[in-house]
Amino acid sequence: MERLSRRALLAGGLGLGAVALTACTTKGVPGPGAAPVGPAGAATPSPGQDVEEKSLVARPTTLDLGGPKVATWAYGDTVPGPLIRAKAGDFLRLTLDNQLPADTSIHWHGIRLHNAADGVPGMTQDPVKPGAKFVYEFTAPDPGTYFFHPHVGVQLDRGLYAPLIIDDPRELDGYDAEWVVVLDDWVDGTGRTPDDVLKELTAAGGAASASSNGGISGMGGMDHGAMGSSTGAQPWGDAGDVTYPYFLLNGKVPAAPDTFAAKPGQKVRLRIINAASDTIFTVALGGHRMTITHTDGHPVVPQDVDAFYIGMGERYDAVVTLGDGVFPLVARPFSKTSGGQALGLIRTGAGSAPAVDVSPAELGGQVLIGSRLKPATSAKLATKNPDATAQLSLEGSMQPYQWGINGAPFGKNTPLTLRAGQRLRINVMNMTMMTHPLHLHGHTFALPSGLRKDTVLLGPMEQLPIDLDADNAGKWAVHCHNIYHAEAGMMIGLNYVS
Ligand code: C2O
Ligand code: CU
Repeated sequence: MERLSRRALLAGGLGLGAVALTACTTKGVPGPGAAPVGPAGAATPSPGQDVEEKSLVARPTTLDLGGPKVATWAYGDTVPGPLIRAKAGDFLRLTLDNQLPADTSIHWHGIRLHNAADGVPGMTQDPVKPGAKFVYEFTAPDPGTYFFHPHVGVQLDRGLYAPLIIDDPRELDGYDAEWVVVLDDWVDGTGRTPDDVLKELTAAGGAASASSNGGISGMGGMDHGAMGSSTGAQPWGDAGDVTYPYFLLNGKVPAAPDTFAAKPGQKVRLRIINAASDTIFTVALGGHRMTITHTDGHPVVPQDVDAFYIGMGERYDAVVTLGDGVFPLVARPFSKTSGGQALGLIRTGAGSAPAVDVSPAELGGQVLIGSRLKPATSAKLATKNPDATAQLSLEGSMQPYQWGINGAPFGKNTPLTLRAGQRLRINVMNMTMMTHPLHLHGHTFALPSGLRKDTVLLGPMEQLPIDLDADNAGKWAVHCHNIYHAEAGMMIGLNYVS
């Protein structure tokens, strides 16, 4: 079978389903990955640079989630929205056409781009008004699995998200097929919108739409059964505020699961993205162990796992050699007693689909905490002592529903500062009894192990020093990727000063 060229891959209108990359099987996990191609790129393409252009129409639409029909907002009338794909070093010209009845923007989550393209109204651009367009132009310097979403209010919890894949052409030989998997928690159009949910949380101190674990948490050190005492199986304690009617895998409920067709023995690369607003998932593939190869775009020392946790905004790539049959890919919400899960299927042979509540044994096996992965050598920062340090405390409570960083909500807190060329160490302290996925714009950071991430889960009261190199001037956001926490104030600026 003929190998698909990169151009064919890009032009072929291939969505989220099976992408046959090549039929010539090269065994072995994807390679060590590319070192960053260069600094965050300029706002115009340089001669010889490939340009990828796409227009994204954001508008109200009605979607079929595989049974439930919901009125929502989406890109291109699908959820997830259309896949954007380019190769490392390409120039992207992406036009947002705002046909929503609200201001919006797009943030290219995890991409190390120049500040003006980062999509944060109030920090890097003005909001894109209804009826207006905005052109995002940037070089995507680093390969990896990314996604994009608005950076306005709680619009992420609508259908406004889509995967963004930056290929490393050198890695395409390491696997036979690829499945992009986007996870989500879904409420929009089921009788309330995400804005309603935020109002309920704020008005009722987190109780009205909170799940049964959504009691009081925060700096008061309130008693919480799931916290502290239990270990291993319950690392994240209280992990979400909102009760969701549905959990989606590639936009579908478990009754109509997205199905990936492949052949037994094929090596498939899973690119798993958590686009949920309030849900940490445990992910397992029935009948298989997975080899984790990358997180947040960065290569890791390949790690075999039964299952892994994925926080909001995180991405994990895994390779799996497929057995013969029908296998459930399950994403089980962590610490949500309302039940339910997201489900997809890998079908390589005969067999009937598993039940919607299928519970693969792997979920109870060795579950990886992603921050314990070891970095691939190519992903490490150069050895260097920090030139400066900053403190970042995550604070807040469910009752009242108030979240902040360093003593105040965003807008009232003082931005962190750094100078170009510095290695900055940020001592992150989670001063609450909830788990928060902390996300940094415009850069990636290294954990003490050297692992590179742009989004990391911090368990209750956890402390974690993260190091970053100040190589991308601008005003950047650092925030919790629980979108309700972020919108309630759990965000702070990171500003370059001279
Ligand atoms: Cu996906 Cu500021 O975040
Ligand atoms: Cu949070």
